[in-house]
Amino acid sequence: MRIEPAASLEGHFAVPGDKSISHRALLLGAVSEGETVVRGWGRSGDTLSTLSAVRALGVQVDELGGELVVHGVGLRGLVSAEIDCGNAGTLARLIIGLLAFQDGTFTLTGDASLSTRPMERIAEPLRRMGAQIETTDGHLPLTVTGAPLTAIDYELPMASAQVKSAVLLAALGATGRTTVIEPVPTRDHTELMLRAAGASITTRPSSVSVDQAERIRVGSVDVPGDFSSAAPFIAAATLIPESRITIHDVNLNARRTGLLDVLDRMGGRVGIVARSRAGSEPAGDLEIRTAELTATKIGTTEVPLLVDELPLFGLLAAHAHGESWVYGAGELRHKETDRIEAVVDALRAIGVRARAQDDGFSVTGVPARPRGGRIDARGDHRIAMLGAVAGLASREGVEIEDAGSVAVSFPGFFDLLDQLIH
Ligand code: S3P
Repeated sequence: MRIEPAASLEGHFAVPGDKSISHRALLLGAVSEGETVVRGWGRSGDTLSTLSAVRALGVQVDELGGELVVHGVGLRGLVSAEIDCGNAGTLARLIIGLLAFQDGTFTLTGDASLSTRPMERIAEPLRRMGAQIETTDGHLPLTVTGAPLTAIDYELPMASAQVKSAVLLAALGATGRTTVIEPVPTRDHTELMLRAAGASITTRPSSVSVDQAERIRVGSVDVPGDFSSAAPFIAAATLIPESRITIHDVNLNARRTGLLDVLDRMGGRVGIVARSRAGSEPAGDLEIRTAELTATKIGTTEVPLLVDELPLFGLLAAHAHGESWVYGAGELRHKETDRIEAVVDALRAIGVRARAQDDGFSVTGVPARPRGGRIDARGDHRIAMLGAVAGLASREGVEIEDAGSVAVSFPGFFDLLDQLIH
């Protein structure tokens, strides 16, 4: 797909429901008492994998307009199944926590990309709790055989909300109180939803404890817009001249919106023009205008707050005055692609000086705008979106290879972009 430079970006719109929250609503709804109504869920390749997974586990889910009704089977009511996780890392990681204490045997597979991503990071702490998990050399395919679990205290070796969440979900079925200690705070959607569902959960600045539960009751989930799906539009409106957009009802959980702080340091013009709530999550409207940017540095403690936006940060840095750095982001090597290499290659392909480091990257800005060129998304939705914004803000346009990969998180991405371009 070819993306030509745009004169401006204008409009008012909303983005699809948050992917992280949608996965969690389906998974927790599945083991809840009674019905869970999920409003505004983000329908995408990844969340459809979770919908199929919970159905395969014996859970009835009705789809009525934009709403899901999940007929929960109770905390220990899932039945043996083979689950295809597709490209969805969050599904593959989180579901293991719930399966570990069911009465059954479960096999998890995934697509080629997911099958290269590390799974021992989940299996290892859960085995300490008594779980029976067999990986294939640390990867999918993987088998879980339900077993009695016991609580543990676990210090996460990496900042990962997926690993934290898998242990917290297993804690629901483990005798005693499980505590997870985080090196750096990561997204807390699981904690917020567990609390709303009546689980006994204690959160401290760097740890979370969950007691064994008899039952949980989610009831309903209002899914706010996905900040990570809003981010390409935030970046585009910042970089394209004469732009002004408003994005309504975006999730503004502080553990997700690190990009706003980073943009603020760089000279970005993003305002929160209204604040609201979507269940236990903060939300609001964002107004974004074109801005001239200066370089900045992002380090270890900030990385989890914008982990999925770091590819876009690379592009913002390519338009900023000076040299920008990301460090302490080794986790990027374990995403849908090795996102350190993928970002650096994408930026170089459009004429930007960028260098990969072991745990991050550096980018030298081209204030006269990067030239453009050809970006290969390699099946990674976030790289495809980077390519789209890069093209709009370039001098000569960008050809995106594998642009269809946006459907993993945001199937309507290019249609929405078309409506805003002037
Ligand atoms: C997610 C956590 C992050 C993020 C992923 C979604 C989640 O992964 O990159 O897209 O929903 O918990 P890690 O927690 O492994 O960093």
